[in-house]
Amino acid sequence: MVLEARLNSPMATPSKSQRVLSGMRPTGKLHLGNYVGALENWVRMQNEYDCFFFIADWHALTTDYADTTNIKQNSLEVAMDWLAAGLDPERCTMFFQSHVPLHAELHLLFSMITPLGWLERVPTYKEQRENLNEKDLSTYGFLGYPLLQAADILIYKGDFVPVGEDQVPHVELTREVARRFNSLYSKAAEVLPEPKPLLTRSPKLPGTDGRKMSKSYGNTVLLTDPEPVIRQKLKSMVTDPRRIRRSDSGDPDVCPVGDLHKIFSSAETMAKVYEGCRSAGIGCIECKGWAANALVQILSPMQEQRKKYESNPRLAWDILEAGSAKARTVADATMRDVRDAMAISLEYEPPRAPESR
Ligand code: TRP
Ligand code: SF4
Repeated sequence: MVLEARLNSPMATPSKSQRVLSGMRPTGKLHLGNYVGALENWVRMQNEYDCFFFIADWHALTTDYADTTNIKQNSLEVAMDWLAAGLDPERCTMFFQSHVPLHAELHLLFSMITPLGWLERVPTYKEQRENLNEKDLSTYGFLGYPLLQAADILIYKGDFVPVGEDQVPHVELTREVARRFNSLYSKAAEVLPEPKPLLTRSPKLPGTDGRKMSKSYGNTVLLTDPEPVIRQKLKSMVTDPRRIRRSDSGDPDVCPVGDLHKIFSSAETMAKVYEGCRSAGIGCIECKGWAANALVQILSPMQEQRKKYESNPRLAWDILEAGSAKARTVADATMRDVRDAMAISLEYEPPRAPESR
């Protein structure tokens, strides 16, 4: 009886005791790159771990503080995409960062113990300040971006943090901050466990121009793009540059459309692509049509699922709101431990007698 209940309940598998924590900035409607780079992985992990996934709306402010008009709308779009792609509130906790204000308290406490050099050394700091040079990022908040991220992670005592390669230095910083906190304040057991990055090995996903798919390049396929838009975008996608005429042979290994096939098409289609492309037996238009078929097959169930939330976005909001309440109880317990360790608990304590000499 008991065993059966355990087997039937995904909540009862042993590894569910290990916590996974990850966040996404609210960039608006998600694209295929976001899906294969993160979301697809998260959907799988919710069955294996105790997962906390949140929308990092405060992190959006670090670069977009001057124009905040889209942050809330974008957060809701991301929430709807998550639910459409199969994140399930029964199996994971989804929430908004800003709805758990304790992240800010922990960030503040960390700011007291973190040497400036640690933050100035983070590779994304210099890079982004130079790349986003139309914005003034010489702010306190932008420098503190990875420290807020450390608070996001440590407040849930996350064991694993699934991230892309660019985020690994942030998890490393998080480990350093945890170590410093523990060495300063932990008495017996460590208050803040050091999390490990789980590197999401994502396949190279090209956008329509052949560069990495990215919102800033304007080369994306959105999870919400309707079939005609998907087909249109693929029609304009770049191909093997050496295949100029229909009679030229080509090579899927140097073609962005070939890369799409490798990720999304069946082995059978893949074989037809290799054969047809190398022998000039198929045209690129036909080949792109097959790639479009594969995308439509993956995206249309999500789009079907998303309709429910599009006609009533409040449903998605309420799910993340309930998740936020759950996250707050976990964050609250950690903050008690943190304040206790630092001897700044909120409980009354009688004054101590003056120390005798
Ligand atoms: N910095 C992450 C990104 O840009 C988003 C993020 C914020 C995050 N807090 C986090 C990721 C905590 C993992 C854990 O993608
Ligand atoms: Fe690329 Fe397909 Fe054309 Fe070959 S046939 S070059 S794989 S689009």
